[in-house]
Amino acid sequence: MRVGLLTGGGDCPGLNAVIRAVVRKGIEDYDWDLVGFRNGWQGPMTGDSRPLGLDHVEDILARGGTILGSSRTNPYKENDGAGRIKSTLAEQGVDALVAIGGEDTLGVASRLTDDGVNVVGVPKTIDNDLDATDYTFGFDTAVHIATEAIDRLRTTAESHHRALVVEVMGRHAGWIALHSGLAGGANVILVPEREFSVEQVVEWVERRFERMYAPIIVVAEGAVPVGGAELLHSGERDAFGHVRLGGVGQWLAEEIADRTGKESRAVVLGHVQRGGTPTAYDRVLATRFGLQATQAVADGDFGTMVALRGTDIVRVRLSEATAKIKTVPKDRYEEAQVFFG
Ligand code: F6P
Repeated sequence: MRVGLLTGGGDCPGLNAVIRAVVRKGIEDYDWDLVGFRNGWQGPMTGDSRPLGLDHVEDILARGGTILGSSRTNPYKENDGAGRIKSTLAEQGVDALVAIGGEDTLGVASRLTDDGVNVVGVPKTIDNDLDATDYTFGFDTAVHIATEAIDRLRTTAESHHRALVVEVMGRHAGWIALHSGLAGGANVILVPEREFSVEQVVEWVERRFERMYAPIIVVAEGAVPVGGAELLHSGERDAFGHVRLGGVGQWLAEEIADRTGKESRAVVLGHVQRGGTPTAYDRVLATRFGLQATQAVADGDFGTMVALRGTDIVRVRLSEATAKIKTVPKDRYEEAQVFFG
């Protein structure tokens, strides 16, 4: 059997651990021939592939990024994209694909399943916003990086009696903000799921200053003030219709400075959250996803995605897995509010 792999969408730590697990199990248990398609869906659309043998995955478990490259290519926005993918698979003798990605990449995998392609999905994203799985790999690493940054920002904020606004990733879901904010002891956490009142933020900030502490405000890039709109880095949209967000941290820092008369600074963590080596948790989760995806291919269980439920890895239909995103529920956000101010 010949099996292809690809990684699509924003990269995240742990992608290489999945690739390694699929290659190791595929060769050792099933004697498969494995091939890696480069740069997400662009690879199978253009026939851009490379062999994947045991030697190629020897040293990649702890390496961030993806040895296959990634892109946000959407075959359903290209001329006969799905047809071109099917032709490549036929020409290269590839029987099945393991697609590692987030909602967009897996949404394409789901449509390709309907179009007759044998696909198994593996969920990844630092945002942790895929509804069908309790956690995605990459999230733990991103939260770890953001928490370490908050710890460091706190000491400089306190030395200078400043407010520090930390902008983290999260377009529609505030999981990174919530978890890093809780772990880092933030005084305000702002998420896209809930519009925030600037007056309320300023009140919390002032309360913190009164107690001679420097306030830390963690804000997700997609958070929106009451009556306002998302702040955009640029209006340009990618092939899945997403705009580039950014700027809410700087905007809020300026509002805080104007309204409190205190110094305020903003830090955007950006792609630092996606780079570098995965945590042990993410390496284990990514490896288990890779092993179970290989098993699903071996079982011929196509059109499925592997998912974490509790401590078990289960299979869910790709169509179900991509139907909605997982956002921060009201009660989870309210739980954190006791620490605000
Ligand atoms: O989807 C993952 C993610 O990291 C989002 O949190 C973020 O908004 C986006 O990707 C950034 O995309 P890009 O790498 O294209 O700038």
